[in-house]
Amino acid sequence: MSAPSEIPVIVSATLNLSRQRGFISATRHETGRLLATLAASREGTLAELGTGTGVGSAWLSSGAPKTARIVSAELDPSLAEDVQKIFADVDNVEIISGDWSTLEQYAPFSLLFVDVREVMESIDVIAGLLEPGGIAVLDDFVPSPFWPPIVDGSVDSVREQWLTDERFAAVEMLIDPDASLLIATRR
Ligand SMILES: C[S@@+](CC[C@H](N)C(=O)[O-])C[C@H]1O[C@@H](n2cnc3c(N)ncnc32)[C@H](O)[C@@H]1O
Repeated sequence: MSAPSEIPVIVSATLNLSRQRGFISATRHETGRLLATLAASREGTLAELGTGTGVGSAWLSSGAPKTARIVSAELDPSLAEDVQKIFADVDNVEIISGDWSTLEQYAPFSLLFVDVREVMESIDVIAGLLEPGGIAVLDDFVPSPFWPPIVDGSVDSVREQWLTDERFAAVEMLIDPDASLLIATRR
């Protein structure tokens, strides 16, 4: 193990919800620790698109200063309701039941965790939601040793676009041999 086994209490609560609901798409510890680390450098409003069982929100809140605000949107109302209960006593975290676009009213964001695949294809929209110096984290890529990146025999044009767009300084980061993410900072 290359990281402490302890995790924040609020992260444990969200992981318990993942287990109860059989939700298998929750954020990994490695990604969570990265989110907390990035969040610690942020002020203003941080956002997550696709709350799931709240794991990403929990990691963000464990790292962000208490003066920062965190908003997260989940399309599945019953999932959103369960996560709202977990964060009921956390003043600076708001879980919103609805489409990710309901968060546009809270922009600009100092950090945006994009965990809904189709939103990643909307680079112009995300660029418009970030403040200068704002960081986008895009999860759930399959590592590729090629350029342009190839997955299942096809070029991953979404990843290629994110890693070459002039509006961002971006990097792909290996989280595990089978998983990577993108970090893109808005110029
Ligand atoms: C990969 S999971 C999210 C995992 C979560 N971010 C975490 O940290 O564990 C993707 C979530 O996005 C939700 N979702 C899908 N489409 C959405 C949309 N248009 N707006 C908001 N949430 C959406 C799904 O219901 C699912 O819970």
